[in-house]
Amino acid sequence: MNRIVKASLPVLLAGALAAPAFAESPAAALVESLCASCHGIDGNSATDEYPNIGGQKRAYLVKQLQDFRSKRRENEIMNPLAEPLTDEVIRALADHYSAQSK
Ligand code: HEC
Repeated sequence: MNRIVKASLPVLLAGALAAPAFAESPAAALVESLCASCHGIDGNSATDEYPNIGGQKRAYLVKQLQDFRSKRRENEIMNPLAEPLTDEVIRALADHYSAQSK
């Protein structure tokens, strides 16, 4: 799974940044393919298992994703997902989710 995420990330990101439909939220395509299945597109999770992250503070989201990436915060689901993310992508994801309403 990690390898797939890593391989598809540049393609997804290039597509997201190039597509005018995503101009308002460059992270939308990434969110849709990498995060929405658990956290929802707007960060309101459909199940009890996954936390709501929509409307969360941007700096907190950036820190959590960086901590998952460095494994300072350990979680078997989020660690491999965060591992290939660059700071730029993390900021874009945090922009997207912090801009949603709860
Ligand atoms: C397969 C399900 C799944 C996917 C996909 C997923 N997450 Fe998560 N996420 C979780 C779980 C479970 C947790 C809770 C981890 C814990 O208990 O520490 C979590 C926690 C988080 C947190 C911390 C929330 C908090 O309140 O501290 C953030 C931020 C986050 N995820 C962002 C993302 C982003 C951005 C993506 C897409 C790149 C993503 N997640 C993809 C399952 C998922």
